[in-house]
Amino acid sequence: MNILSPSILAADFTRLGEQISEVDRAGAEYLHFDVMDGLFVPSISFGMPVLKSVRKATKRILDVHLMIENPERYVDEFADCGADLITVHAESCRHLDRVISQIHQKGKKAGVALNPATSLSALDYVLDKVDMVLIMTVNPGFGGQKFIESSYGKIRDLKSRMEAAGLHTDIEVDGGINADTLPGVLEAGANVIVAGSAVFKGNIAENVRNLKNIMEQ
Ligand code: DX5
Ligand code: ZN
Repeated sequence: MNILSPSILAADFTRLGEQISEVDRAGAEYLHFDVMDGLFVPSISFGMPVLKSVRKATKRILDVHLMIENPERYVDEFADCGADLITVHAESCRHLDRVISQIHQKGKKAGVALNPATSLSALDYVLDKVDMVLIMTVNPGFGGQKFIESSYGKIRDLKSRMEAAGLHTDIEVDGGINADTLPGVLEAGANVIVAGSAVFKGNIAENVRNLKNIMEQ
């Protein structure tokens, strides 16, 4: 199933509750929550107190993307604050297999993210343990960046690896997704679509409808 996960990094934070209701009403299935620590990525975004408030504002799946060093330090707390799905970067975990188990022990779904320059081989021994793989289609750290073209081939390679292994794991893409890049990532095999600017800039309901139309074609 194709799923839209609007990233609130691009929202107007003075009107966050309203904008969350707007994407909910327009039919987005997930809500994407980007946590940045200023170390793993250059920027700092938001954390637990904001997640707790967002949890009260929506019943949708909260898709928490941890762009932080050594995420095992905070996995339990994000789970307790309302995350449903927690994604960690392969590059930031010294013991990736253990972190995946930690997320599952909290009763949450586990995702593993790969930066654009990270090879799919980072997934070799964990692919059958994760609920989702996040292929970064920009270098993480900021919203509104340009989609990296080599991502299409990477998604396609991941999809064929999964098919060969008989896996139906979700493939999420994040960064630079809009009406122009969406058809290609869907065709390559992605099914969980993060969009920040393409949802929150302009008319939110109309943007969600347009993206969902493309996803349903
Ligand atoms: C990038 C973040 C993304 C970002 C996407 O580091 O992980 O989730 O918000 O923003 P857009 O869709 O504007 O590229
Ligand atoms: Zn993200």
